[in-house]
Amino acid sequence: MNLDSLHAEADQIITRYPASKRSASLPLLHLVQEKLGYISDPAIEWVAAKLGLQPVNIFELVTFYPMFHRKPIGKNHIKVCRTLSCALNGGQALCEHFQKKLGVGLEETTKDGKFTVSYVECIASCGTAPVLMINDDFYENVSREKADELIRKYGQS
Ligand code: FES
Repeated sequence: MNLDSLHAEADQIITRYPASKRSASLPLLHLVQEKLGYISDPAIEWVAAKLGLQPVNIFELVTFYPMFHRKPIGKNHIKVCRTLSCALNGGQALCEHFQKKLGVGLEETTKDGKFTVSYVECIASCGTAPVLMINDDFYENVSREKADELIRKYGQS
């Protein structure tokens, strides 16, 4: 899949914002990331051109919002919460456990392309810390044993 294949879907998204095409910036970036996996420099220029904006306008959004990736990430993106409740309940040790088990640093991807490990800010389940997400799946009260189980489970996909 490439940017050219996204024109029709992007145009359809833009029609939802008749008052200001600029408002379609984030939806278009989500579309690009969902289809291509990350937001490349050509993708930034493509989105800007679709909306009649300068690339810097889109670049600012991509670098401001942590959910956008500037380089390819693993098939399974492990996102460990690092905000207060999770930090106080072992979030950092849990994230380090994933890194050690997978042999990668933070924001790095395993050689087989299966996993990327990141920190994220609060994902709104502070009472069940530590919590994490893998892709769109949510996990609470994650122990090291549970982490190992998740690596096995997602490693098969
Ligand atoms: S602090 Fe981790 S979910 Fe809120």
